[in-house]
Amino acid sequence: GKVAVLMGGSSAEREISLLSGGGVLQALQSQGVDAHAFDPAQRPLAELETDGFERCFIALHGRHGEDGTVQGALELLGIPYTGSGVMASAIAMDKVMTKRVWAAEGLPMPRQVVLRRPECSPERLAAVVAELGLPLIVKPPHEGSSIGMTKVEQASQLAAAVELAARHDSVVLCEEFIQGAELTCPVLGEGETAQALPVIRIVPPPAGYDYNNKYFTDEVKYLVPSGLDAALEARVQDIVLKAYRALGCRGWGRADLMLRASDGAPFLLEMNTSPGMTGHSLVPMSARAAGITYEQLCLRLLAAAAL
Ligand code: DAL
Ligand code: MG
Repeated sequence: GKVAVLMGGSSAEREISLLSGGGVLQALQSQGVDAHAFDPAQRPLAELETDGFERCFIALHGRHGEDGTVQGALELLGIPYTGSGVMASAIAMDKVMTKRVWAAEGLPMPRQVVLRRPECSPERLAAVVAELGLPLIVKPPHEGSSIGMTKVEQASQLAAAVELAARHDSVVLCEEFIQGAELTCPVLGEGETAQALPVIRIVPPPAGYDYNNKYFTDEVKYLVPSGLDAALEARVQDIVLKAYRALGCRGWGRADLMLRASDGAPFLLEMNTSPGMTGHSLVPMSARAAGITYEQLCLRLLAAAAL
């Protein structure tokens, strides 16, 4: 039957979603799937039903796509979709809620302070610096692709960083900066049968890993295999699987972590439930290292579409 690749949408990551969806659409069509692009920013989702779509591949990122809302609409329409269900999507879209779930499981994470918008007096910001040290990371807890995020090196930069993040969210997440390597690790499957793919080590240029060089330059180097020793790679994968299962994820996901340089300890940052599928994206890169082509990955995710 007909498959809709949901792409575009109205979030701050629309541009990335169009790249992800374009790749997925082409891959599915090349494998003989009757796939069509569908942009929820341009058409009501109810038209999926009237147009006879039988399944959806969700290639949306961010709000109204990755956060459980589209998943809920598809539940009501009775159209199976790829990836996590409503609850896991909604929790994973919120980095603060995610960490509450992970904390209950004893999973390792950077220390954090959550600021509500009116709480940003100079005294409060000074207390955040005292608690987390410098540098520290400021981000809007519901965004992806580093949107609205700042690495604060000096206390004097914190107010502006909080203000920037607050443009995207009603709460602001301040996190301890973990000095070390940035890692990412995809997961495929569900529950006890979920499996972690190879870890990727991200080597950003000195200016850091940001929205622009994530997608639009070749300045970032990606190591897969990661170069971690086998025991540490397995430990990272084990933590990521626990993090995935704790949130109740399904289909696929990708956890981002930091590996502390001083002692090799991993710290979870977040779980992406609708990871990027662009030419620069990480899940396809890791899958390839595991012998899974981009086309095979798309077919496998589609085959696991569910309600
Ligand atoms: N939020 C982007 C799409 C990612 O995590 O890949
Ligand atoms: Mg993300």
